[in-house]
Amino acid sequence: MRFFALASVLAAATCALAQEAARYGAVTIDGDNTVSAGQTFSVTYNSTVARYTPKTVDFVLQGTLPNGNRSPYVVLARNDISADQKVLQQDLTMPDITTALGSDITNWLLVSFITYDYDDYTPPVVMSGGTSAPINIV
Ligand SMILES: *[C@@H]1O[C@H](CO)[C@@H](O)[C@H](O)[C@H]1NC(C)=O
Repeated sequence: MRFFALASVLAAATCALAQEAARYGAVTIDGDNTVSAGQTFSVTYNSTVARYTPKTVDFVLQGTLPNGNRSPYVVLARNDISADQKVLQQDLTMPDITTALGSDITNWLLVSFITYDYDDYTPPVVMSGGTSAPINIV
């Protein structure tokens, strides 16, 4: 379920980044988006204009396999976030993805993947969704 939910979110994000940002917030890579293994880079997640208030924010990578399927997720960081925190800036270190997974995965995206409570139910209805930014892994 989780996979299909994020896959559809990613597909939608490619077509309608602004819409996804309006729902799930925006993620940006601060500075150059070309990053090599071992390099530390800074990312900013911003939910100021998002419809939903995140409980958690995960930063993950996903690319495209040679057969066109999306790659598994590479998890960079998982974060709990307080209800009044709108911005999360974090330094991340790029793992050696090319050695681990091969060099034939392309079109990498940095995804900020959130969980949030849908409206105000008890017990809560917890949803997930994400937005993405292109990242060039060299
Ligand atoms: C977060 O987004 C809001 C609304 O677009 C913007 O005004 C603010 O400057 C952003 N904050 C950061 C740290 O990027």
